[in-house]
Amino acid sequence: MSSGVRANLPAVSVRNRIEIVHGVNLDQLGRRDPSIYGELTFDALEYRITEWASGLGLTARFFQTNHEGELVEHLHAMQGLADAIVINPGAWTHYAWAIRDALEIAALPTIEVHLSDPMQREEWRHVSVVEELCLATYRGQGPEGYRLALEHLKGALDG
Ligand code: DQA
Repeated sequence: MSSGVRANLPAVSVRNRIEIVHGVNLDQLGRRDPSIYGELTFDALEYRITEWASGLGLTARFFQTNHEGELVEHLHAMQGLADAIVINPGAWTHYAWAIRDALEIAALPTIEVHLSDPMQREEWRHVSVVEELCLATYRGQGPEGYRLALEHLKGALDG
């Protein structure tokens, strides 16, 4: 007699939810120095990321804040809501150790992205507090860095 419960079907677990986390001042893209950050507005960047993600079978969800505590609390809430993170913390990258600790608590596969290459800029930008927690860092490649990050995570989540 059948119980109606198909217990022997394999559990399908799709891991495709990518949280795109932007920190301080990145909402101002389009107004920032185009020789460093390009001409793309923040909305246009998010649109491109959405398209790249869906082409890879991933779902991108976006969060941006200019308030460090908000970013910390967002990372605290991340478990169960996302399968991986792409983070560009903006200037917080270089000194915000509380964001590093919150990212550790989130405990999700993470890629760090920077539009510019901080290593080729002022010395204070050479430190990244999140780098050690990330699978990889893509910097200095403009928006393309996000596409590379998504491809990297696709491989990591499928593999
Ligand atoms: C940035 C690099 C940081 O040094 C800077 O403070 C930013 C943007 C980038 O994407 O190139 O705000 O993270």
